[in-house]
Amino acid sequence: MADATALAEAAAERVLALIAANQGRIAICLTGGSSPKRLYALLGQEPYRSRIPWPRVHWFIGDERFVPPSDPLHNMSMARQTFLDQCAPAANIHPIPTDGANPDDAAHAYEQQLKSFYGTDRLDRAKPLFDLVLLGVGPDGHVASLFPNYPAIDEQVRWVVGVATAPVAPKVLRISLTLPALGSCREMLFEVAGPDKRAILTRVLAGENLPANRAHATGETVWLVDNSALPEQAGGD
Ligand code: 6PG
Repeated sequence: MADATALAEAAAERVLALIAANQGRIAICLTGGSSPKRLYALLGQEPYRSRIPWPRVHWFIGDERFVPPSDPLHNMSMARQTFLDQCAPAANIHPIPTDGANPDDAAHAYEQQLKSFYGTDRLDRAKPLFDLVLLGVGPDGHVASLFPNYPAIDEQVRWVVGVATAPVAPKVLRISLTLPALGSCREMLFEVAGPDKRAILTRVLAGENLPANRAHATGETVWLVDNSALPEQAGGD
């Protein structure tokens, strides 16, 4: 991809293709961080906005910082402000609750929401939870709020877990979907842009045991990378 704008346009086209492939209820799991902001802005504008059947698309979030929705660090609030509140029915926006006592309670509550949306409490490979899961990659190779060497990365049973204070900024408590829940999707789409990502992308491409290399879809896993994030030998500038 030439740059972050081209990358966001390619991601928007993939979102629309996934939506077009499902004539029923659609579930999209968004990601936080700065990488998806351009994509979210595009989805809320023409020519994309009117191609999205908003009443039948449901929006979830793969991880959340344990802060109030009014806090600028709140992932779902960023997505809401960038496009969801202008476009999506309120009942189709599914934030992780952060008003409870602690991240574990929030994780339990969100897991129940996901199970009731899915219709059963066992993930079936033949029936993905999400049509699309968007992900970014952190500087240490984390995805969602699954950090290297934290127990949450190995969780196989729970769909959502509370996570101790993050080892990288912002160093706050988190709630994260687990690898089995994130992986239950038709497509997992990584967006990686900017020279700041070059170091971690080099490690990912070398096959290091990092969360980013452990997150896979039951369907297709796709990486969209812009040239400035690519290691030099792989064609970066
Ligand atoms: C979060 C994220 C996290 C993020 C990566 C990449 O809540 O922090 O969901 O997993 O996607 O850290 O973040 P950037 O896009 O800001 O680089």
